[in-house]
Amino acid sequence: MSNPTLDINACVDETVAAVRTHTSAKPLVGIVLGSGLGAYADALQDLVKVPYTALPHMPGSKVVGHAGNLCFGSANGISVVCMQGRAHPYEGHPLWQAVHGARVMARLGAKAVLLTNAAGGLNTAWAPGDLMSITDHLNLTGQSLLVGENDAKLGPRFPDMSEAYDMAIRAALTRAAASAGITLREGVYAGLMGPTYETPAEIRMLQVLGAQAVGMSTVHEVVALRHMGVRVGALSCITNLGSGLGHEKLEHSDVEAVAKTRHADLIRLLDGWIGETAKELS
Ligand code: HPA
Repeated sequence: MSNPTLDINACVDETVAAVRTHTSAKPLVGIVLGSGLGAYADALQDLVKVPYTALPHMPGSKVVGHAGNLCFGSANGISVVCMQGRAHPYEGHPLWQAVHGARVMARLGAKAVLLTNAAGGLNTAWAPGDLMSITDHLNLTGQSLLVGENDAKLGPRFPDMSEAYDMAIRAALTRAAASAGITLREGVYAGLMGPTYETPAEIRMLQVLGAQAVGMSTVHEVVALRHMGVRVGALSCITNLGSGLGHEKLEHSDVEAVAKTRHADLIRLLDGWIGETAKELS
């Protein structure tokens, strides 16, 4: 929720100014690396890592598997910025702060951002480890990022969400998966507040609502980026079947462990997405 006493646009500029004391990089694309997926950033060429703790207004995450670095580098010669870990609203961060990194990537010049996350799967034909391109979302967090006075320096009062997940950016992900020989599912992501995993009744509700995956991140970042006119794609690593669909109890350590099993594929998929997206943006 917007805070009337706080100039969020100025906070974004202050964070960018602090970034500029570490690097003059002009990233074309951004990637947010979710639970257990952060290692991709370490594979960038000419890597420059700026810890969130060195940047004003950047909240750190205390969740295991979220390192907390803004990483600059290149892949296939294309300039990239990666958030190695994100802060979540369930950690108590106000929404503006949870999306601050996404806004900073936009202000740094990223024209397209791919958000990644770990998610529970709602389709029983899918298996842990499957990767899903998000086609649309349900914001079921009970909160909306843009409540409060609108700052036109960030974006319009009523942002359009009819194609929140950009068709061409999604197509770039589909092409990257096909050329890497990686199976890519597609579906709707339900974003919940957490931090509990869902009850089996909630999972059945989400299935009825038409979601294929559920998680505790992403939806507010998508709103922040669309507000600023950045094109968005998103990728879920389905780390488990939703509560009650399998026999296991859900634990974060398992979520992280499953996400890590896709590390090698993720490098190929994200490298391919960056190349395909750069072609789209040129
Ligand atoms: N529910 C919510 N968030 C998640 C899950 C889940 O089952 N798995 C990974 N993140």
